[in-house]
Amino acid sequence: RNIVVAFGGVSPEHEVSVLSAMQAMSSLEDTDYTIIPLYISKSGRWLTGPPLLDLENYQDLDALVNRATACTFAHNDLGKPVLQETEKKGLFRSPQQHPIHAVIPAFHGSEGENGAFQGTCEMYNIAYAGSRVLASSLGMDKVKAKELCRAHNLPVVDEFDFYEREWVKDRQSVLHYAEKISYPVMVKPVSLGSSIGVAKAEDEQALTEAVETAFRYDNNLMIEQAVTPLMEINCSVLGTPEKMQTSVCERPLGQEETLSFEDKYQSDGGGPKGMASADRVIPADISDELAGHIQSLSRNIFTIFRASGVARLDFLVNADTKEVYFNEINTIPGSFSFYLWEENGMNMRELMLTLIEIALQ
Ligand code: DAL
Ligand code: MG
Repeated sequence: RNIVVAFGGVSPEHEVSVLSAMQAMSSLEDTDYTIIPLYISKSGRWLTGPPLLDLENYQDLDALVNRATACTFAHNDLGKPVLQETEKKGLFRSPQQHPIHAVIPAFHGSEGENGAFQGTCEMYNIAYAGSRVLASSLGMDKVKAKELCRAHNLPVVDEFDFYEREWVKDRQSVLHYAEKISYPVMVKPVSLGSSIGVAKAEDEQALTEAVETAFRYDNNLMIEQAVTPLMEINCSVLGTPEKMQTSVCERPLGQEETLSFEDKYQSDGGGPKGMASADRVIPADISDELAGHIQSLSRNIFTIFRASGVARLDFLVNADTKEVYFNEINTIPGSFSFYLWEENGMNMRELMLTLIEIALQ
């Protein structure tokens, strides 16, 4: 039975996805499943082949790409979904068709996490792990996600969003809104993760710089009231809205109040740290009462979004008052947040097998 692990993609979170996929694929070695990698290159090419199973040296991904084989989803003569090689690699080999039992999307950000890839799986009638199209796309839009929570009376901080063309045409209105929300504010790309482009601004000048930087990643930004003093708390939910469990809470640590992309994924030498070793306190050093409140909010939000599989819910907590605000839902969390499930006695392999089981329900 072939399990396709799909990763990479045109997203700025490409490298993070490679890390998650490496962990997913190695965890499924020595199981009943055969792993077939589906790597989407930064330029959007679909590739497969054994060299992609060997990603430890992922900084040389370009070299691997040249040894990989172009592929696409297709149906075989029996109408069953397959991963179809579309080129002939090697002298005596003809393009192969690999029947697909299920796909594990291990993408972060953009088309791989926002429902586009999930929709493609549905078009081919392929079972896939994680959230369906609706939860994936709602989760990818931080503003729409907050609007949904607001509609359900769940706590979120005030924000407004704007597009690059509006900033270019009339930045004064944006600055005026920010003034109304009151400094300090956070600037965030609406549709990105891994803290890319996220910055805190204490005044107009810092805001202007943060906005100009963030527009490099997304043409839709939001400005949000900063929670100070801030404590971030995350919690993972596994299952379906009908039957789910919550993990313990974690408190990610950052040098500043926001974990930067570098904090999360890059060591001092520039190499990857991976999700497992990033600095975090597990279980979070908070009261049982606060942890219980956050776990119950997490279940609630997972249900409202109709999420499925595993999701990580991120919250902003005022460290003084302990007020809790929903920040975002990650429908494909980094390394699928396996490190939160270890506390429940579940390792990465068991997590992946559970995701496959839910996908096939
Ligand atoms: N978007 C990253 C991978 C996360 O939030 O886990
Ligand atoms: Mg997050």
